[in-house]
Amino acid sequence: MLNIALPKGRLGEKVLALFERAGYDCPAIHEPGRRLVFENERAGVRYFWVKPSDVAIYVERGAADLGVAGRDILLEYAPDVYELLDLGLGRCRMAVAAPRGFHDDEERTLRVATKFVNIARRYYAGQSRDIDIIHLNGSIELAPILGLSDVIVDIVETGATLRENDLAVVAEVVPISARLIANKAAYSFKHAAIDRIADDLKGMVQI
Ligand code: PRP
Repeated sequence: MLNIALPKGRLGEKVLALFERAGYDCPAIHEPGRRLVFENERAGVRYFWVKPSDVAIYVERGAADLGVAGRDILLEYAPDVYELLDLGLGRCRMAVAAPRGFHDDEERTLRVATKFVNIARRYYAGQSRDIDIIHLNGSIELAPILGLSDVIVDIVETGATLRENDLAVVAEVVPISARLIANKAAYSFKHAAIDRIADDLKGMVQI
């Protein structure tokens, strides 16, 4: 039995549909209720829903053999896991955004609001730009509107949140999509089962 951590929410529904198409369905997961763990012995999978940003922790520590995490989380927290496959889902980009008409005065320290402090630090270090990081946990777009920061580093998917708040992308940082990740120890002692599921998923991703 493989333990698989799925990210709760919109991405999770798409990820589950992909696993189902690949032959790893689990009818119980569609029953209404508050249960978090679902098993299909025949398919050899036990799924559980976790907060998207927690998937990599479950996998790194071996509570899950496999999981699906966004590249944003993998870059930010650098968990010690194997990245097996780009699932091509949840495509979006990490970008720098600012109020329309923003001009960067390079003489001044740039105030950057973000959830992704490591990604932001690395990005600006690569540009030798001095920054002051403001670590927020959500609604990042508010920061430049209220003068808390000059720019934000955040995920842009449709661009609607930026548009509706009079912000615009200033620079792309990195493209993001969902990745299949594996616990390192599990990969060595369950490698046949893990390779099989990764291959079956790969077949579906290419279609
Ligand atoms: C994410 C991200 C942006 C928004 C981008 O927020 O932080 O705010 O989605 O999507 P869009 O380009 O399609 O508008 P999320 O919904 O995860 O909430 P958050 O405010 O807690 O970060």
